[in-house]
Amino acid sequence: MCGIVGYTGKRCSITTLLDGLARLEYRGYDSAGLAVLEDGQLKLVKSVGKVKNLKKNVAATWPNPEKCTASTGIAHTRWATHGEPTEANAHPHLDGSGKFAIVHNGIIDNYLDLRKHLQEQGCVFKSETDSEVLAHLIHQCYEGDLLHAAAAASKKLKGTFGFAVICTDKPEEIAVARRGSPLVIGVGNNETLIASDIAAIAAYTKRVIFLNDDDLALITPDKIDIRNIENVPVSREIAKIDWDVAAAEKNGYEHFMLKEIFEQPEAVANTIRGRFDNKVFTSIMSGLNMSPDELASVKRIVIAACGTSMNAGMVGEYYFEDIAGIPTEVEQAAEFRYRNPIIEDNTMVLAISQSGETADTLAAVREAKNKGGIVAAINNVVGSTIARETGRGIYLHAGPEIGVASTKAFTCQVTALLLMALLFGRNRRLERHEGKNLINDIKNIPELIKQVLARAGEIEKIAKKYAKAENFFFIGRGCLYPTALEGALKLKEISYIHAEGYHAAELKHGPIALLEENVPVLALANDIPGKDKIIANIQECKARKSPVIATATVGDTEISELTDDILWIPHCSSFIAPIPTVVALQLFSYYIAKERGCEIDQPRNLAKSVTVE
Ligand code: G6P
Repeated sequence: MCGIVGYTGKRCSITTLLDGLARLEYRGYDSAGLAVLEDGQLKLVKSVGKVKNLKKNVAATWPNPEKCTASTGIAHTRWATHGEPTEANAHPHLDGSGKFAIVHNGIIDNYLDLRKHLQEQGCVFKSETDSEVLAHLIHQCYEGDLLHAAAAASKKLKGTFGFAVICTDKPEEIAVARRGSPLVIGVGNNETLIASDIAAIAAYTKRVIFLNDDDLALITPDKIDIRNIENVPVSREIAKIDWDVAAAEKNGYEHFMLKEIFEQPEAVANTIRGRFDNKVFTSIMSGLNMSPDELASVKRIVIAACGTSMNAGMVGEYYFEDIAGIPTEVEQAAEFRYRNPIIEDNTMVLAISQSGETADTLAAVREAKNKGGIVAAINNVVGSTIARETGRGIYLHAGPEIGVASTKAFTCQVTALLLMALLFGRNRRLERHEGKNLINDIKNIPELIKQVLARAGEIEKIAKKYAKAENFFFIGRGCLYPTALEGALKLKEISYIHAEGYHAAELKHGPIALLEENVPVLALANDIPGKDKIIANIQECKARKSPVIATATVGDTEISELTDDILWIPHCSSFIAPIPTVVALQLFSYYIAKERGCEIDQPRNLAKSVTVE
């Protein structure tokens, strides 16, 4: 979850390192630092808070960066796990001699044992982090070869890591290693970069090498030497990425989140593009790489995911069961590997992850593969670890999602799940005309989203009315139940209002005790099967004096007469309803958070990609 950037080349590294850190900042960080080699010396600058604070400290050290000769360096943005966000705990960390500097992403599980052992040998620690042991270990293992030292130190580590190390003896070298935390090498002209995320380096090169677990590499401006942990050379392909740097900028929007909410018609269009077979009315999912017989052999689907991706998975459960008739369950990825799940050889385990790097989802993938299931993934980030390790699946093509609170990934994930359910459905019980109708419904999703976005002004006015609430309930039924969970998650993530999503019927079993005039309820009351039941649930809330805001189908006066405020949703079927409805909820949360003056793109304590357990 921390961010790493490194550069070795012919230019001064500082500007590239700071630029890379700034491009990683969206992932949510609390401190930053860099270390460079200049005239045979290690120079270290750190700061607490945003990269702009680091920039100020760097400017004080190098008033004329153009004259700086520091052409090799590493940098880091930290998301605190071990020790508070202080300068001492910020990376890079040095060994006792000041010869080595390291940056590390991940968690070293055995750091206390290692630290004790190193202290007994006289090492003095300056931080509370688990990472600092690495600098001391590398120093101890060093016999003149930086890659060997990195490999020897890696062997002593338990847990997860992606790290980079530089040494005063080797002015043009950076050694890197990974196990469980992403690391990518950028291949430039007379310069080589490394990063934990391609966003950091895509402005400099589009040619990248994704390292695998237990890969190490020694990079110089013109050479990349990749080995496994036993020092055997391994070859890794150079991939060409089509990352659009402009797509990762705000383009005039006040926040990335707002931009990404408004990008959804296009993002969903990209997810569905080229994926319909209009002759047999099914979907084309070549990335799944499954023959009709293999599709038919799937008897059960287990979806593993975290956060927003799990909420999308819960919508998918309705799709797979109702459309395709395949028994489906959703498992919190964090629980999957610890509860000995039953995975038979006709079980498909479907990992859903925007980033493709979430540690718990990745662990679920590995456990499922180990148990012999058919393992597939729905990912957004091309070349991510989960995408590579599953080897089969669907890319969303939603473009980079920068706002920490996920928006377009959710709508595209739900769309991708619908496409998959169509494929499985047509392979089983879904008739031709049903397939055709579903295709028409899916094709219409971008238009439905546009109609919700056109009401942003209306939604903003309603949001402002409720911005002072401190507690909120979101209720729904059917596919709109997980949509309610996602609505509540969005609100709490960015506005810090305590918000709970519940099945509308479950409200009576406890939460109703909390309802009163200061606790609004947002009821998803679209005109789809189950509406009569939710009307009864709304009455129960009104009887406890809770203000009720509802999502309702355009023109539904029955709901508007019953409730205080309405977020209007265009008419659509119950399978499609989660998508335009969630867009209204995203806007509602966004405008509440804005009214409350919150840091919308980087909410406190959250990270875009959670690469630790
Ligand atoms: C973090 C993010 C969420 C995201 C979740 C799962 O908690 O803040 O927005 O839904 O991780 O991430 P993934 O990349 O696996 O979808």
